Amino acid sequence: MRLLAILPVALSAAALILSFLCLFAGSKKGFMEDYAVITLNSSQIGQSLFDDGDSSSSNSDSDNALTSFIHNVTSSIEDEIEDTLTSFAKDLGLHDFYSAHLLDFCEGYYVPGPVPNATLDSSDISQNVTSCSNRTAMYTFDPKEVLQKELNKSGVDVNLDELNWPEDINDGLQALEAASNATFVLYCIAIALIAIAFLTALVAIFLEGRLWSFVNVMMDWLAFLVIGIASAIATAFAVKASEVINKYGNDIGVSATKGSKFLVLTWVATGLMLVASIVWCFDCIQGRRRYRGPSRSYAGDKLR
Ligand SMILES: *[C@@H]1O[C@H](CO)[C@@H](O)[C@H](O)[C@H]1NC(C)=O
Ligand SMILES: *[C@@H]1O[C@H](CO)[C@@H](O)[C@H](O)[C@H]1NC(C)=O
Ligand SMILES: *[C@@H]1O[C@H](CO)[C@@H](O)[C@H](O)[C@H]1NC(C)=O
Ligand SMILES: *[C@@H]1O[C@H](CO)[C@@H](O)[C@H](O)[C@H]1NC(C)=O
Repeated sequence: MRLLAILPVALSAAALILSFLCLFAGSKKGFMEDYAVITLNSSQIGQSLFDDGDSSSSNSDSDNALTSFIHNVTSSIEDEIEDTLTSFAKDLGLHDFYSAHLLDFCEGYYVPGPVPNATLDSSDISQNVTSCSNRTAMYTFDPKEVLQKELNKSGVDVNLDELNWPEDINDGLQALEAASNATFVLYCIAIALIAIAFLTALVAIFLEGRLWSFVNVMMDWLAFLVIGIASAIATAFAVKASEVINKYGNDIGVSATKGSKFLVLTWVATGLMLVASIVWCFDCIQGRRRYRGPSRSYAGDKLR
């Protein structure tokens, strides 16, 4: 019995569960929806248009659907005298937020309201997910496509370009598509490697010998490397995508936040594999003393 092996067994089991959760978080409604990679806040989309809706509609020639739509909404809002409390997204038939996961996206509304005010602290705003898309391997979140589909469905005759949706967001996110696909593949490989690392650690509890320590060192390092790269790419994707969306989306009231909970999850999994591989290195070194040990330490004792 190699009791030290119990530690890496536990560590890799925990890492296996965490990396599994990273991949499947938010993959269906009610399952860890708040562990998104990034969350798009579209609750105030087109607000700038609404703000100058009255003035522009009077002087501009545009007699298009958007202006008349804005006009209707604006007057109905004025009736309620609750101007800034309303979710503009809702008026357009959109959701307040869209949270992108590794396999799908979820959508829903902020409750009780999307914008913090004097009585509503931002920490009291929570996400109420209404639905999630189907699970898809190599899923890439494309906000333009998603939003346009919803606009089409809602029956509001407004198109995303009329809301001044910035092309730069699409270009920015397209550049990240490869990263998004790579993340999925890397998490799958990482899960497989961590599972093997778990099994070899399990075997090593019962099979002593340096060979098994060595096999475990290699397995754990490999698993650590792959989950580390997956985490790094996922982090880079979350940071870069939210940066792009915030930079260009600001003008039309769209913002994004990177999913800190998801990032904690994936980096903790990475950390666990690092610790597991360090434990095996330690065991390997110990083993050398143990197996070659007696004569040498005897000699050492004599020398001393
Ligand atoms: C703050 O927002 C909430 C939710 O939209 C609303 O019910 C409340 O009346 C607002 N309070 C103030 C002071 O505007
Ligand atoms: C959503 O975005 C709007 C406008 O960018 C902002 O005022 C609001 O605080 C955001 N809401 C949440 C819950 O992040
Ligand atoms: C969340 O959304 C569901 C519908 O999907 C609704 O029935 C429920 O009342 C909402 N919860 C809150 C707190 O608004
Ligand atoms: C999601 O899956 C269901 C059944 O599995 C299917 O009927 C539906 O069309 C799918 N939705 C999309 C958007 O692909």
